[in-house]
Amino acid sequence: MPTNHPRSYAWVNTSPAPISILSDALAITLNNGQDGYDHSTVFIMHSLSRWLMELSGFLDADGTPNGMAILLSGGSGANLNGLTVARYWAAKRDGWSIREEGLQNNRPAMIYYTSAEAHSSVQRCIEQMGIGASNLRRIETDNSFRMRPDVLRESIEADLAAGMRPACVVAACGSTNVGAIDPISDIADVCDEFDLWLHVDGAYGGIVGLDPAYTEMTRALNRVNSLTLDPHKWLQVPLDCGALLVRDRQLNHENYTLVPDYLRAASTEEGSVPWPCEYMFELTFGDRALKTWAAVARMGRDGVRDMVINCDNLARLLGELVEKSDNLELLAPVSVSTVNFRYVPKSGSLSNDALNGLNQQISEAIVGSGEAHIPTTKVNGAVSLRACFLHYENCEDDVHHLIALVQQFGEKYE
Ligand SMILES: Cc1ncc(COP(=O)(O)O)c(C=O)c1O
Repeated sequence: MPTNHPRSYAWVNTSPAPISILSDALAITLNNGQDGYDHSTVFIMHSLSRWLMELSGFLDADGTPNGMAILLSGGSGANLNGLTVARYWAAKRDGWSIREEGLQNNRPAMIYYTSAEAHSSVQRCIEQMGIGASNLRRIETDNSFRMRPDVLRESIEADLAAGMRPACVVAACGSTNVGAIDPISDIADVCDEFDLWLHVDGAYGGIVGLDPAYTEMTRALNRVNSLTLDPHKWLQVPLDCGALLVRDRQLNHENYTLVPDYLRAASTEEGSVPWPCEYMFELTFGDRALKTWAAVARMGRDGVRDMVINCDNLARLLGELVEKSDNLELLAPVSVSTVNFRYVPKSGSLSNDALNGLNQQISEAIVGSGEAHIPTTKVNGAVSLRACFLHYENCEDDVHHLIALVQQFGEKYE
């Protein structure tokens, strides 16, 4: 499974940029932990913080970057970090300390809310945090797979009426399955009204606002409390690197800081460069900053923007070709750089189960051919061929090649 090949449309994968591979080799040679001290990687991480805020639009109302990014192993780690800061904040809002008490004192249940389309890591975080999956509300989505703010509001009101403590909403900016972008601005209004933390999982689509087609939909990222990005997805960074952006750096610090004597140094004092290990659970970990910094530095903001627009355009093209075709069917609106579709024989006589089997077979045949990699997912119960464009070398030829492959195997097995 050559996931760094341009014709691998699987999951949410990129291919590492050569400059990042070389930078990683240098970082490994230096072997500086990114936990703290005066290691160069810590300073690079802080420069990169600002870039990640600018690329995603995680800015203050006046357009200035504000807050801090920390680099973790991926989107799951970044979500976990963000949601634990939210938990700390919610307890503090209610006048108690989660660090001191834990969750064992029979306080009213803390409730988290997310879209029914949210990535599985959100539920896993909630389980690991001791909140419990039954206290995660999976809010219904609209026809475009976007969280419904009206249903969110009703759910919060019902929980308040039942004596529970709504704590945090986790919205998606680019859901994994279909690339949906939740209505972040409307959700932010609800969070303001009920005093809830707003975390956005932008592991996949957190930088899609660079494409003018999505700038308006993602503008409200300047209102969210924390944002997950995943540089090992769309920023050409070799595995692994996730990023969590938190606006209130002090709160993040309060949730995590615990520095043992043997690590104390003058540089941990007020006014120095913050040590990442005081903002996250990991202590010693590798340099994730240099390879990420190098990828962004080489492309520049315009280069990242052009790559994002190119991938989105290819998804739009594939969607248009699917809609024009008489044996392909679009299963979800094209969003960000993801297209969900299936092969449907022109005769139209197959049952849904048979179509599911046929499309699974097409996917496996394509993988087996070595020509491309397009796994399946499910959309409204239908087996879907899911193509995600994230590779910097993807071009229109790839789209035509993919359509031809699906039709070739479709005709063979129908
Ligand atoms: C939207 C979203 N969130 C979170 C994750 C988890 O990220 P990671 O696999 O880097 O832990 C993914 C992974 O595909 C994702 O698409």
